[in-house]
Amino acid sequence: MSELATTLQRIAAASDLASLDAERVSALGKNGWVTALLKTLGKMSPEERQTQGPAIQGQRADVAAAIDARKAALETAELDRKLATERLDLSLPAAEQPQGSVHPVSQVMDELAEIFADFGFAVAEGPEIESDWYNFTALNMPETHPARAMHDTFYVEPREGVEGTFVLRTHTSPVQIRAMQKHGAPLRVIAPGRVYRSDSDATHTPMFHQVEGLVIDRNITMGHLKWTLETFLKAFFERDDIAIRLRPSYFPFTEPSAEVDVGWSMENGRRVVGGSEGWMEVLGSGMVHPRVIAAAGLDPDEWQGFAFGTGIDRLAMLKYGMNDLRQFFDGDLRWLKHYGFSALAVPTLSAGVGA
Ligand code: PHE
Repeated sequence: MSELATTLQRIAAASDLASLDAERVSALGKNGWVTALLKTLGKMSPEERQTQGPAIQGQRADVAAAIDARKAALETAELDRKLATERLDLSLPAAEQPQGSVHPVSQVMDELAEIFADFGFAVAEGPEIESDWYNFTALNMPETHPARAMHDTFYVEPREGVEGTFVLRTHTSPVQIRAMQKHGAPLRVIAPGRVYRSDSDATHTPMFHQVEGLVIDRNITMGHLKWTLETFLKAFFERDDIAIRLRPSYFPFTEPSAEVDVGWSMENGRRVVGGSEGWMEVLGSGMVHPRVIAAAGLDPDEWQGFAFGTGIDRLAMLKYGMNDLRQFFDGDLRWLKHYGFSALAVPTLSAGVGA
């Protein structure tokens, strides 16, 4: 049998990719017999080469084609074998009961939506990858504004063909702009969602949740702001003895601005919201800055409003008594079993938003 026939037979019989490669090396490799034949071409006379050349090249092509064909066949067989053995029957009944529960963050978001729906607020949304314009500039923080440095911003790497600077939104306030642009005035929305800052310890995680509130109408005053927040906190903490205190503060996008403290007291050795033994800060707020209203395309001489923002995770911790924020995002089933909520216990004002 010729060398070529033997090789082709061995290639066809190769049972795996490794033995096929061994055949390739013994024919086409540096010391392979086809390679050796090819080398003889150099020493031939032009006439000899004319006849021998095509014959040798033909053998090389036959071997290469046989290897490619066998390789394809072995790969197909391997895939078929995997498909047959790694089959998963998705129609089988579950071996275990599902064990998840509603995360406290989702629960509090549902509670917020329920409470504010009763005041006539709709829920608004915006993207988590936000342009620098929405996250800062339109909120009265031009490029050189020092308040930009307060936010430990994550910047998104610039991409070819995409204009402008993008960030992971550092707060839910950009949704104020988007909601005004989309719906105009008058307007009442809350905007719950994820926000990102480069910060990490027991009370800070790089991703956390905020809820923004925005009211735009004619003749809106700080009085409306104070009533809304007080009524909200009473409904949320389910107590009538909620005391709040507004302290002058500064945010670039509100003027005047106020930090809102809520009174706490000791009950069973634990600090709870209610009463006024002491104060803790729970919200940022203020009257929407005329420049912000103008940036969103509305006339600030006609429309005024108030806005507020607060941390959802923090609200959950205060209401349900967790003390380490990091555990919120560990995905530990034992924690979820302890702090989670039944999917059937939907918060409603009539049945109590506390579930
Ligand atoms: N965006 C502010 C923050 O993240 C909170 C805030 C919202 C303050 C709306 C005033 C008005 O700290």
